[in-house]
Amino acid sequence: IQTGVVKDLAIEVGLAKANQGQVIFSLIVPTYNESKNVERLVEILTRLLDEYFNRKFDRNDRNFVSESEQKSSNNPNNLNKCYELIIVDDDSPDLTWQVALDLMPRYPNLRVMRRQGEKGLSTAVIRGWQAAQGRILGVIDGDLQHPPETLTQMLDAMLDGVDLVVASRHVAGGGVSDWGFLRRMLSRGAQMLGLLILPNVIGRVSDPMSGYFMVRRTAIANCPMNPLGYKILIEVLGRGNIQAVAEVGYVFQERQEGESKVTWRQYVHYILHLLRLRSRGRITKIRKKLHQEIHQKLHQKLRFPAKRFLKFGLVGFSGVFVDMAIFYLLSDASTLAWGLTRSKVIAAEVAVLNNFLWNDLWTFRDLAQQQFGWKKLIKRFVKFNLICLLGIGLNLIILNLLFNYFGVNKYIANLIAIAIVTIWNFWFNLKLSWRV
Ligand code: GDD
Ligand code: MN
Repeated sequence: IQTGVVKDLAIEVGLAKANQGQVIFSLIVPTYNESKNVERLVEILTRLLDEYFNRKFDRNDRNFVSESEQKSSNNPNNLNKCYELIIVDDDSPDLTWQVALDLMPRYPNLRVMRRQGEKGLSTAVIRGWQAAQGRILGVIDGDLQHPPETLTQMLDAMLDGVDLVVASRHVAGGGVSDWGFLRRMLSRGAQMLGLLILPNVIGRVSDPMSGYFMVRRTAIANCPMNPLGYKILIEVLGRGNIQAVAEVGYVFQERQEGESKVTWRQYVHYILHLLRLRSRGRITKIRKKLHQEIHQKLHQKLRFPAKRFLKFGLVGFSGVFVDMAIFYLLSDASTLAWGLTRSKVIAAEVAVLNNFLWNDLWTFRDLAQQQFGWKKLIKRFVKFNLICLLGIGLNLIILNLLFNYFGVNKYIANLIAIAIVTIWNFWFNLKLSWRV
């Protein structure tokens, strides 16, 4: 079962449009039993984001908003719409969703989603993004272990144009507060395992386990997402179209309230998730290659083989001289002095033989080599003869039609007839005698 796709926005929401009531940034907060944290978190996030967007709009930065738009942006109602906070709660027994709902009158940018039925951290994030309206999609834990101050640097990076910004414990300014040896090893071990199974995905960021990041909507729009367990970032890296990536250091804080939901199951899910993405990567590669091959073959079949046709034409031209020479030798009084018809028939047949040999050795050499042996050679020759014979008949019909019915000059009519019959001869010999 697929969790679903995040739809692209109908219109690309530009920053300048934000003050016309469009959302720039949607921050998802997945929660499960975080009733004690949610109020403080919403308060801090709101203060921080209000301040951030106010500052952005106040600054006289022409790249950010045009002057006229700045004037109208003084309207605080519009500014409020710059971002939205979406709490996605999995029907927590401690009624986190209820606490959050009660906050809504005080925080106009807050939205609450209470999920009943579906469960799990990663899918909660996807569902949140599906309901989101922003151009930049973010996620932050609901227990204040991710310091909200980092958001400003992350937003700056996104507004600079990267597709993904990850808050990382493993770059300058990052770390963990006081994790024991075992926990550090477990965390690093998981990362190493990820590098072994899925190097192209896990190796792209220093902290692939991070649940604190932002991604441009267009980078994941319409990619079917089907995450498992906790690590939504690897799903984004594995399935999205992520080009430029930035990282911002942060220190993973200790939990003040509530408790972690991590159990051994999350480790199992992590490994299964890696394997799922790996097999998907392989299948996509194979499918791509197959698609390419089919496309190439089709292209080859549909393309008119101009080079071959040119060779065929030259061979045909040589046939005229062979025909002439034989015809002279047989019919001329100084040599054999045979009858006209007998001479012509033999001359024509020798010319056909000449053309056949040149075509078999040159024009259609590659195809002839695939049909080896005397029997097949004779078969090709007989077919070539029949097609050319029919060509002569066609030549007569066209010549007559053009000359008698359409009143075309007889030389021009003959030229047209020869052109058409050459194409006829070429095409049917290609398809039937040498068979592509
Ligand atoms: N909706 C929903 N459903 N939320 C959930 C669920 C769930 O099934 N399980 C956990 N959450 C929420 C928690 O309420 C919390 O807000 C957040 O997801 C993280 O859960 P924790 O249980 O606190 O996880 P953690 O702190 O041990 O693990 C974190 O490890 C990474 C660093 O190694 C992850 O959550 C990452 O986000 C973090 O960066
Ligand atoms: Mn936590």
